[in-house]
Amino acid sequence: MKKFLFSLLAAVMSVLIIGCQNNKKVETMIEKSLYGKLPNGKEVYEFRLHNTSGMQVNIINYGAIVRSIIVPDRNGKFEDVTLGYDSLTGYINDNSYQGSIVGRYGNRIGKGQFSLEGVNYQLTVNDGENHLHGGKIGFHKVLWDAKVVSDTGEPALVLTYVSADGEEGYPGNVTVTVTYTLTNNNELRIDYNGTTDKPTILNPTHHSYFNLTGNPANTILDHQLMIDADTFTPVDKGLITTGEKKSVDKTPMDFRTPFAIGERINDKFEQLAFGKGYDHNWVLRNYDGKVNKTVELYEPLSGRLMTVYTDQPGMQFYSGNFLDGSINGKKGIGYQYRTGLCLEAQCFPDSPNKPEFPSVTLRPGQEYNQTTIYQFSIK
Ligand code: GLA
Repeated sequence: MKKFLFSLLAAVMSVLIIGCQNNKKVETMIEKSLYGKLPNGKEVYEFRLHNTSGMQVNIINYGAIVRSIIVPDRNGKFEDVTLGYDSLTGYINDNSYQGSIVGRYGNRIGKGQFSLEGVNYQLTVNDGENHLHGGKIGFHKVLWDAKVVSDTGEPALVLTYVSADGEEGYPGNVTVTVTYTLTNNNELRIDYNGTTDKPTILNPTHHSYFNLTGNPANTILDHQLMIDADTFTPVDKGLITTGEKKSVDKTPMDFRTPFAIGERINDKFEQLAFGKGYDHNWVLRNYDGKVNKTVELYEPLSGRLMTVYTDQPGMQFYSGNFLDGSINGKKGIGYQYRTGLCLEAQCFPDSPNKPEFPSVTLRPGQEYNQTTIYQFSIK
């Protein structure tokens, strides 16, 4: 009798649990749990954002890192379309900026030097002789304060970090806020805000590696890419922009109509040799400071389409050329050459040393703002 009652109870419980799980799918919500501890004992939390159509985005407050973006394919199969790690240790040891917010300056600054209002600054040099993605302990390696917002009907996470005067060589105490919102339109929306107490430079960006097949054993070479840009900013051997804007016309950099990434990636073209593939900034055609549609990334097998909207003047497209199988990512999979790609909305690289490029200067009393949206759909 006891046994029977126990099985009955277990059956009722499992129906309830399954019921809750189904319900979760149609509820807008955020779940929070302890993800791990940093070597200094500080706790890192994971926030799982769900929308009404079942899309899920997992974010941790270390590095403001997006751990997973789980979206359906054309058959309704939900899969994670980003690279990353299972555990916090993976992110602590990572040097490929997986899923993070990079800054203060996303991309490269030649020799890590710039001058502002007559003062010369030397930033940390962490990429050959250059400064890359905010330095050694940039925004991607620090703990952010996290606040959950869900009263708008769409789950949002507000992450705040105060970067001290002199950090990685940058002037001014800078307060940065990144708000991740998962909309009911299957968009991951990123709103940035920044203020300073001294003249400084600020140009953060987002560094998720996408693989829309949902299986990082596949390369990204069959993904079809469209970038709304007539010109790009060529680089030298050290990947520092030369200051020019070059036409994409009749070159492998022309993505004005969709092209498979692999179609021309190995063409004999000096810029591709410098980048070991695509690792360049495109000058977005419709830049007017408003949020515009700029990029489409389509993966034919799954039918997944990612559309990128931004109010930034530039878009770095990086085809994962430094991935070499040495990273053991989620489920222990070694991330091989070109199995993930980044689309980083930003100001043009090395802009502090290129007066002809849009400015990234931020002064006391001003506000830095950026909005970039990664939208997922099926085609
Ligand atoms: C960026 C850069 C690349 C590379 C990656 C990180 O996208 O443009 O050159 O440094 O980050 O590996």
